[in-house]
Amino acid sequence: MTSLSLPVIDQQPESPGQIAALHQEIRGLARARNAVVLAHNYQRPEVQDTADFVGDSLGLARQAASTEAEVIVFAGVHFMAETAAILSPRKRVLLPDLRAGCSLAATITGDDVRRWKAQFPDYISVGYVNTTAEVKAELDYCCTSGNVLDVIDAIPADKGILFLPDFFLGAHVRRMRPERRIEVWMGECHVHKGIRAETLNEARRQYPDAEVLVHPECGCAGQLIYEMGHGDISPEGLHIASTEGMVRAVTERPASRFIVATETGIMHRMRQMAPEKEFIAADPEAVCAFMKTITLTGVRDSLVHDRYHVTVPPDIAARARGAIDRMVALGR
Ligand code: 13P
Ligand code: SF4
Repeated sequence: MTSLSLPVIDQQPESPGQIAALHQEIRGLARARNAVVLAHNYQRPEVQDTADFVGDSLGLARQAASTEAEVIVFAGVHFMAETAAILSPRKRVLLPDLRAGCSLAATITGDDVRRWKAQFPDYISVGYVNTTAEVKAELDYCCTSGNVLDVIDAIPADKGILFLPDFFLGAHVRRMRPERRIEVWMGECHVHKGIRAETLNEARRQYPDAEVLVHPECGCAGQLIYEMGHGDISPEGLHIASTEGMVRAVTERPASRFIVATETGIMHRMRQMAPEKEFIAADPEAVCAFMKTITLTGVRDSLVHDRYHVTVPPDIAARARGAIDRMVALGR
């Protein structure tokens, strides 16, 4: 396993006046270059506000696959831009800041997957989208937190499964599908690992009427599902979902208050979707420094200077494509 050092986050470099001017400039540049700006739910508010589409990794991959634009500016992290480059090989994919890595994706390499598969030759390999293209090239299926169970259910019941790289998501899948033989890689995301059950339970005590939205990568998700399984806590008002599933829940559920257990950037979109509701971060420190390397200035400069062009070697892209296509096709 490898690890990735954290970039230093630039604190809000743009003033409100600069933000308005940059939005205008970016929209003009995007029109001139026939570019689309895609932003992940964890991006800075002002970056989300300049995007043509904001969503989870699955939604962004689908947008990248279907867009008519010639250029895709990816306001997200490197593995997402790689996935877009694989899905749209004729488009130019730009990542505004090359420091936008992912601590979870860094926990496994292509060599690691090859060695693991050699130990379990009859197993089907399923990898979370938070992996490098080199890792995806070794996989049978790719999935996101939004469609992981659909992907598992699409695999014949008698087959064993190697699930990578997220340990917490793997544990979630094991609990949801206890009849399946599933080996889980011990990778984790530093942001979600830090959201502990104790912190979440404290927020629940403080706001007993709030519904709880939890990303399955969280350290707390494992304990919550365990407690639900034992009848210690009621599943009512507790939702374990991808970032997009969490955003959907705030509009679909009648509750007026939600505790949000994932990266805090998502609360901007929640506030836009349901301005009358209240959102409480389960852990206000849950901030992904990799996502936050992307600034409005960076998005503007990526269009002006045509940088940083993300490409995937054709042989790796061809091998990764099958697993990604299966991911894009499954789930809502
Ligand atoms: P989603 O697929 O739920 O958007 O999550 C991506 C991610 O990086 C989680 O940290
Ligand atoms: Fe990767 Fe974690 Fe950041 Fe998501 S929140 S991009 S999994 S480091």
